[in-house]
Amino acid sequence: MRAVDIIIKKRDKKELTGEEIRFFIDGISNESIPDYQTSALAMAILLNGMTPRETTDLTLAMADSGETLDLQDVVDIAVDKHSTGGVGDKTSIAVLPIVAACGLPVGKMSGHGLGFSGGTLDKLESIPGYRVDLTTEEFLEQLKSIGIVLSGQTKDLAPADGKLYALRDVTGTVQSIPLIASSVMSKKIAAGAHAIVLDVKVGQGAFMESLSEARELAGLMVQIGQLAGRDVVALLSDMNQPLGNAVGNALEVIEAIETLSGNGPNDFREHCIHVAAHMLVLGKQASDPEEGRQLAERAISAGRAIEKLRTLVEAQGGDVAYVDNPEKFPKAKYIEVVETPESGYLEQVQARIIGEAAVALGAGRAKKGDPVDHAVGFAVHHKVGDRVEKGQPLFTVHANDESLLSEARQAVLDAHRWTDAPVPALPLFYD
Ligand code: URA
Repeated sequence: MRAVDIIIKKRDKKELTGEEIRFFIDGISNESIPDYQTSALAMAILLNGMTPRETTDLTLAMADSGETLDLQDVVDIAVDKHSTGGVGDKTSIAVLPIVAACGLPVGKMSGHGLGFSGGTLDKLESIPGYRVDLTTEEFLEQLKSIGIVLSGQTKDLAPADGKLYALRDVTGTVQSIPLIASSVMSKKIAAGAHAIVLDVKVGQGAFMESLSEARELAGLMVQIGQLAGRDVVALLSDMNQPLGNAVGNALEVIEAIETLSGNGPNDFREHCIHVAAHMLVLGKQASDPEEGRQLAERAISAGRAIEKLRTLVEAQGGDVAYVDNPEKFPKAKYIEVVETPESGYLEQVQARIIGEAAVALGAGRAKKGDPVDHAVGFAVHHKVGDRVEKGQPLFTVHANDESLLSEARQAVLDAHRWTDAPVPALPLFYD
C-alpha cells in the first residue's frame, strides 16, 4: 500500500477501506508518512467527507495508535468531558473542579488551541509552573489521590491524533465532521473514562456553524462512543458570541477563577453548571440534571470548587498564589477600553472575528509550535440583546505589540453590530 494512492482515492471521492485507514494512521504514528501527505489526506477528507463507517474506523485506528487506559483501574467511575472548541471557552478549567468538589473523580486530557479557538492547555500554561505534560503513571496516580487531573494528551495516548491535530491547526483542515468526530472520540476512548459529556459548539464562532451540522457531529460522536461501550451525552451549546467575557489565555483563567469563587459572568457560570450537572448525572452522583445543578451550585457557594482548583494547580506544580491572587497574572503592555460608538441593542458579537483577532494578537498560533502570548486578548463587556449606550465601555483590548493594536480594535469593533429594535438574548443551549 502507498500513502499517495490513499490520498488519490479520497481526492476522487471514493470510500477508504478499514485497512487503508489503519495503514495511513500507522504511518502517521511511526512517522513513515511525512506531514505533507498527512496534510493532503486531511484536506481530501475535509473536502470530500467520510461515511460513518470510515469515521468509526478512523476513530478506532487513532485510539489504538498508542496506549489505552481504563480509569476503572483506579476509580469506580470516571467521567470526562470534551468541547469541540469555541471562543472564550474556558469551561474545563471551571467545570472539572466543580465536579470533583462534588465527589466525582475527573481526569481529562486537553489540547492546545486549534485555529481561532482557544485551547485549555495554552490557558493553563499561563499559571507559572503548571505542568501539562504528566506521564500516564502521574495522571493515574493523581486521579486516584486527589480525584482531579487536567493535563495534556500524553505522547502515548492517541499519538496519531496528536500529530494530525497539530497539522490541521495550520493547514485549514479543522472544520470537518469526520475529522473532528474522530479526533475527539479517539482521545476520549483511549483516555479510558466510561462516561463522557460532549459539549458540541454551534454558531459562527464554532467549527460547526449550523445546528444541523452540529447535530450530525453530535450524533456521530455519541454513536461512536456507544460502539466503544461508553455512556455518552452530547449538549449543543451556542457559540455565536464568546462564552463569558474573556478571550485570551490568562484572561480566561482569571475568569474561571472568578467563576469558581462565586462571581464571573452569568452566561459562563450557567454554562458550567449545566455541563457539570450532566456529568454528575452520568457519574451517578445525581439522579437528574436538576439535582446535579444544585450540587454544582453548592460546591461553588461553599468554596469547595475553588479549593479544588487550588488542589489541582498545586498537584501539577503550578503557583497557587496566582489562584489566590489573580492580580499576579502578567498584564499586557497596552490595555485599552473601547467605547460604544452608538446607542442601541446589540444584535451580534461575532465570536469568530474576536477569536481570530485574539490569535492575531498572539493568543494562538500561526504555525505549528509557535509560542503563545498568555497576556493578550479581549474582554467583551456586553452580550447579544443588551442595550448599550454611546460612550459606555464596549470591550477592552489587551495587547503587547503597539503595531497590532489598531487592527485588533477595529476588528472587534466590527464584530459588534447594533440595531434600534430590541433583540432577544441568545440561548446558552439548543438541545
Ligand atoms: N477538539 C478536538 O479534540 N479535535 C478537534 O478536531 C476539534 C476540537
